[in-house]
Amino acid sequence: MSVTKKLLGLTLAGGLIMGLAACDAPADTPAGEAAGGDIESVGISMPTRELERWINDGEQLKANLDDAGYTTDLQYAENDTDTQISQIQNQIASGADVLVIAAIDGSVLSPVLQDAADEGITVIAYDRLINGTPNVDYYATFDNYLVGQLQGQYIVEQLDLDNQEGPFNLEPFAGSPDDNNAKFFFSGAWDVLKPYIDEGKLVVKSGNEPTSNDDWASVGIQGWESAGAQDEMENRLASFYTDDKVDVVLSPNDSLAQGISEALVSNGYTPGSDWPILTGQDADKASVINILADKQSMTVWKDTRKLGEQVFTMIESLKAGDEPEVNDEETYDNGEKVVPSYLLQPEVVVKDDVQTKLIDSGFLTAGDVGL
Ligand code: BGC
Repeated sequence: MSVTKKLLGLTLAGGLIMGLAACDAPADTPAGEAAGGDIESVGISMPTRELERWINDGEQLKANLDDAGYTTDLQYAENDTDTQISQIQNQIASGADVLVIAAIDGSVLSPVLQDAADEGITVIAYDRLINGTPNVDYYATFDNYLVGQLQGQYIVEQLDLDNQEGPFNLEPFAGSPDDNNAKFFFSGAWDVLKPYIDEGKLVVKSGNEPTSNDDWASVGIQGWESAGAQDEMENRLASFYTDDKVDVVLSPNDSLAQGISEALVSNGYTPGSDWPILTGQDADKASVINILADKQSMTVWKDTRKLGEQVFTMIESLKAGDEPEVNDEETYDNGEKVVPSYLLQPEVVVKDDVQTKLIDSGFLTAGDVGL
């Protein structure tokens, strides 16, 4: 831990207040003094190794920081909140100057983040917002609402809902109820789809239809588990689709889409014929393989390398005693404050884009997806 960390923490807090009061104002650190060089050690706390994206996220950020000479500690908590809290406690005790946290449950970290604040540690929420605490300094993520909008718009375009009457059978799913992102994904999609439900062009035969965006968790899948989504889809198919077919499934991400896809296979759906439109997010290898096999229609790609680079840039700014750049100071209210955020742009990937967007950019190799 750097000796001047406490002082630095105060300086940064002062800079943050200034930054909020006057957008883009420089931090209150005299040039060439104090902050520069004081940030040496970064604790990175990731939710789980179960999903490929978090492995990439953690390793890329760690590599960027290691190459630049920081000391890093990367931990995965296997989707267990107590494990994540104790890993963060260890990182605080070992002298982290900055903590980068992708929370498993964004509502339970207040006490440990109070400890971090007491030590003058800067906290960056990574991908997922941390709620209910003033002690989160920055948030770096993709535009989560836009992720959902892209999924909704894809469905509208594919079914040509502005010109077709339908009715088409839709089954909606949402992400884990403890993940703040899940509500944004759902709201983005539902704001696009709900008018067509109200018109009767989309029908939710199972009745699993949230009455409003706030009711999104009623269709949530705990822990973003593929198996949970598979079970739920099996139940809906067995109970409501014995004499009819589902036309479209709103899945918020790839791990759910993979489970839903398994349920469709075991219920006799055939890719390329009666397979429903199925959305996703992340460009996970397994889902890209499914997209190539017509078992998933699209994914919303978030180039996690860009997120890692953004967080790295934030840390470099802190090290230089500057205020990290943000581009959203309105959307992410965590119940205690609006957290200054940097939002990156997600994009849709369909079968025809796999080569040009995912492989040519080096995000995946051809071999990863069997090409
Ligand atoms: C992330 C998604 C991911 C999901 C499950 C969300 O917070 O933004 O990219 O699919 O968690 O891990």
